[in-house]
Amino acid sequence: MNNIKLSGVIKSSASSNIALVKYWGKKGLQIPENPSVSLSLCQSQSITEVAWEIKEDRTSALEIEFYFEAQENIEFKQRVIKYFETIASLHAIPHHLKLKIKSHNTFPHSSGIASSASFMASLALMVRHLDALINDLPTSGPEFSQAVSRLARIGSGSACRSVYGPICLWGQLDGWRESSDEYAVPVQNYHDIFSDYRDTILIVDSTPKKISSPQGHQLMHEHPFKEKRYIQARENCKKLLDAIIMGDLATFVRIVESEALMLHGLMMTGTKPYILVKPNTLAIIDKIVRFREKTQIPVAFTLDAGPNLHLLYPNHFHEEVLAYIKRELVQFLENQNFIEDRVNAHPTTLEYI
Ligand code: DP6
Repeated sequence: MNNIKLSGVIKSSASSNIALVKYWGKKGLQIPENPSVSLSLCQSQSITEVAWEIKEDRTSALEIEFYFEAQENIEFKQRVIKYFETIASLHAIPHHLKLKIKSHNTFPHSSGIASSASFMASLALMVRHLDALINDLPTSGPEFSQAVSRLARIGSGSACRSVYGPICLWGQLDGWRESSDEYAVPVQNYHDIFSDYRDTILIVDSTPKKISSPQGHQLMHEHPFKEKRYIQARENCKKLLDAIIMGDLATFVRIVESEALMLHGLMMTGTKPYILVKPNTLAIIDKIVRFREKTQIPVAFTLDAGPNLHLLYPNHFHEEVLAYIKRELVQFLENQNFIEDRVNAHPTTLEYI
């Protein structure tokens, strides 16, 4: 009992991830319709600080103050409150808490990078840590990380993959015994080439998207091709994971690019079709394919639910790819803006203040 703490301040961080096989379609509390595979990144991080206090009256309600980038952000706050209500109802955290949460991102809003994965993962790490402190439980180890990933998923599906790095699998997949729909697992036996893989993010357009990811998932319920898509995603996960283990970059490029195009193909062919790519997205894709054919450099493009491109390639081609971006691609970018990132084996941190 003596070790049980009553108040304190902790700071957690988590970085974003980019899906290689896409999570697109869900049921319940972010239970995915198909498994997905991702790379965890370094640069795009959310940092969340919480000053917490246990209230003496055990029957009192959860009290939350929330500031995003030093401002009271009502929309974000509602989302955070809803999240806490959900996880409190699952007994992941007590109700009689007073929390003052401050969060910020290391990347600008205008970068067009989705922050829900990194933010929800940083929040989940903080919550799990807090619960462990209050209840005098271990604050690290495989069970702890699994619980963080599960809690992150409840906030935003893709957030569960920001708990491990450099490569994650989320969603039940035959042949991967430890895989689960409830949490992500790290892919352990990846080929060495992926240990320092590069991701250069090309910002084509940073304006907020017309259709959010939760709305996009929702539209998959009535998508005419959904069953075929879920089967295909399973097959792609298996083939991609084999390629990641073997270091088979030709297969890696083929599957990663077909997944990106499939994601946007699904958006364009649903019952309420919509287009998130821009003319410059397609211009860059065309150039990248030609660059790869000419140089044999295995650079692959992928997209999340927006117009910006992620270029993925082995670290030893960095100089050539960067020179090509500066020479041939920046003209297609908003304010010539791109972000140099790479994979991250340890995408989360936690400290006491
Ligand atoms: C296209 O995780 O943002 O980036 O679970 O509703 O919060 P919610 O959705 P979210 O969806 C991510 C969709 C994606 C593909 C992916 O990251 O796998």
